[in-house]
Amino acid sequence: MKKIRQIAVIGAGNMGSGIAQKAATEGFPVVLVDLDDAKVARGLGVIDDTLRQGIERKVFRPEEAKAIRERISGTSDWRHLADIDLAIEAVFEDLEVKRSVFARLEEVCRPDALLATNTSSFAVSDIARGMKHPERILGLHYFYHPAKNRLVEVIAGEETSPEAFASAWTAQEMMGKTPIRSADASGFIVNRFFVPWLNEAVRLLEEGAGDIPTIEAAAKATFGIGMGPFELMNVTGVPIALHAAETLGHAFGPLYEPAALLRTQVASGALWDLGGTADPAKAEAIAARLLAVTFLVATSLVDEGVGTIEDTDIGARVGLRWPRGPFEMINRFGIMEAGDLVGQFGGSWGVAVSGILSLQWRSRTPFPFELVKSELEGGVAKLTINRPDAMNALNETVVAQLHDAFKRAAADPAVKGIVIAGAGKAFIAGADIRFFVRNMESGDLKRIVDFTRAGHALLHDIDACPKPVVARLHGLALGGGLELACACDVLIATPRASFAFPETGIGIYPGLGGTQRPTRRIGVGLTRWLVMSGHTLSADEAAAIGFVDAVVPHEELDAACRAAILRGSKTKPRATLSDRHLALEAFFAGNDAETLRLGKADTGGNEALGKAMKRVGFKAPIALRLAGKLIESGAALPLEDGLALELAHLEEIFSTKDAYEGLSTLGKKQPVFQGR
Ligand SMILES: NC(=O)c1ccc[n+]([C@@H]2O[C@H](COP(=O)([O-])OP(=O)(O)OC[C@H]3O[C@@H](n4cnc5c(N)ncnc54)[C@H](O)[C@@H]3O)[C@@H](O)[C@H]2O)c1
Repeated sequence: MKKIRQIAVIGAGNMGSGIAQKAATEGFPVVLVDLDDAKVARGLGVIDDTLRQGIERKVFRPEEAKAIRERISGTSDWRHLADIDLAIEAVFEDLEVKRSVFARLEEVCRPDALLATNTSSFAVSDIARGMKHPERILGLHYFYHPAKNRLVEVIAGEETSPEAFASAWTAQEMMGKTPIRSADASGFIVNRFFVPWLNEAVRLLEEGAGDIPTIEAAAKATFGIGMGPFELMNVTGVPIALHAAETLGHAFGPLYEPAALLRTQVASGALWDLGGTADPAKAEAIAARLLAVTFLVATSLVDEGVGTIEDTDIGARVGLRWPRGPFEMINRFGIMEAGDLVGQFGGSWGVAVSGILSLQWRSRTPFPFELVKSELEGGVAKLTINRPDAMNALNETVVAQLHDAFKRAAADPAVKGIVIAGAGKAFIAGADIRFFVRNMESGDLKRIVDFTRAGHALLHDIDACPKPVVARLHGLALGGGLELACACDVLIATPRASFAFPETGIGIYPGLGGTQRPTRRIGVGLTRWLVMSGHTLSADEAAAIGFVDAVVPHEELDAACRAAILRGSKTKPRATLSDRHLALEAFFAGNDAETLRLGKADTGGNEALGKAMKRVGFKAPIALRLAGKLIESGAALPLEDGLALELAHLEEIFSTKDAYEGLSTLGKKQPVFQGR
């Protein structure tokens, strides 16, 4: 895989300046290029403003913003592109201008540099056609504001090589983006259904189905969003909506063509007038039409192979910030009702119901979601949890699907070993906290225990699998995610990965083996340190204490996972600890939970111990006490017995007031624990 070190962004406008800022935020040196120095300066000025706002909103510390800005250089001299690894073009939406930019990039960049376009309306293949090296040209379609919106559609043109695609995909992960794969089709995935949704709102207005405030209110209530279609068009530009609808209309016919009123509005140069009062009596009919167009188009695009069900929904949630994607909405609406609605609506345009929707309608079953992707390459099965916007948090469906996929891979004679991975920025950020809170509120602790048991069964199979299993740790692994990693034979991380057991800080203890398996890797003292203090391990520190087996650059991660499998090695010697870690190990092994929590243990003036003890002071007393005991007693037992002990106390911990306090206030306020 190609290493991406230096990035160039061509076009310092709205999109280009944001893309450059995001790449620099994630540590890449970036060259920002525009036609002349004044345009470059304007783009850099936009970045300065956004960073300043970021400091005011406490997104960045001033020194972080300064470091980001220092990674960006601006120029109108293309000779500065001689050494870049990835160029992202974000110039005017004009095919000839874009093609001239690519022709020039071919002249000035190294032959192995990847060249990407952020086009919204042209085919990547049309931009690449006739270039010297079309195999390295691909699409990276970002969403406004590209420094804040995580979604990127990654598009292979007809001639894009799989290597270029894979390298660009990895670079997007490294840029903190959530990539989804789209075919090279007009509108790609998200604009394909979003633009007709905007356009349908205008049609409803044109037909007199309701006035603007009525349509806005109906859309907001139905889709659970903060801004309706008219307000969105006002914010992002009414002419952009028209242009996008024209492009789609050209590709897909009358249903997608712009409403006449949209043209009139653009010609007038005015924004939509949002004033007035909504008429609730008209909401239902409006909602039905907006749902119908969304359902019809989303199912058609999947039917045509433009994207998957999962990526379409991720696109809606991450790119548009809809709480639910079209397919989840169809399932909630009812597959039969959705089929009927689309049938009627499509019929009025002479558009047939797509094959996938008809199939589900006939079988009367909701759309299935594949939350775990399975790939097999060269004897290595890669299982990727694909819930990037929930940071791949474990829930009942994910655990069940991962278990099924794992069993299939383990039983497949063609599989030599298994890699477990997470999509997007994180590996796995723990378990679904809302699930715990919901069940605690309804008094259904049994469901929490059953969920945890199912998790234990999965981790047991991972642990017991005779084939090597590797955890591919490219980002955050928290709580349940880290426990899952601990059940794997080999843990391979990138420098950006980080690890923590935050449980005792939210009133519970790690219940998926987190009080048992880590002791087998790093011993009792360091496990108690991690679980009781909630300390976040960087990848390097995790390697230094022997928690992970290797730290490799992101581009080498897949190769390293594969190599570990082919080596088949399962055992490794204990790490030699630094003085600091030796002290932490002894300190946490030698003091009980309550002494540590009350800050009464003797640190001997050691600053690191003092800091760690202070952190323990913020944790929940019962959780600390149980965790400490489970770690210690479990280490003296066979693993299976230790795990059974951990499960046996689960209901007890989830019945505490502190567990409810910790879980229900997470992300909202500092919990106040009472030891009850
Ligand atoms: N604005 C959006 O919401 C959005 C979303 C996704 C994709 N896009 C796509 O991103 C691209 C850029 O859009 P934008 O909104 O940033 O446009 P913009 O007009 O704000 O910026 C375009 C920039 O490109 C520069 N430019 C033009 N020709 C150039 C050349 N030959 N060499 C170097 N620089 C050149 C211009 O001077 C300008 O600064 C378009 O292809 C657009 O379709 C836009």
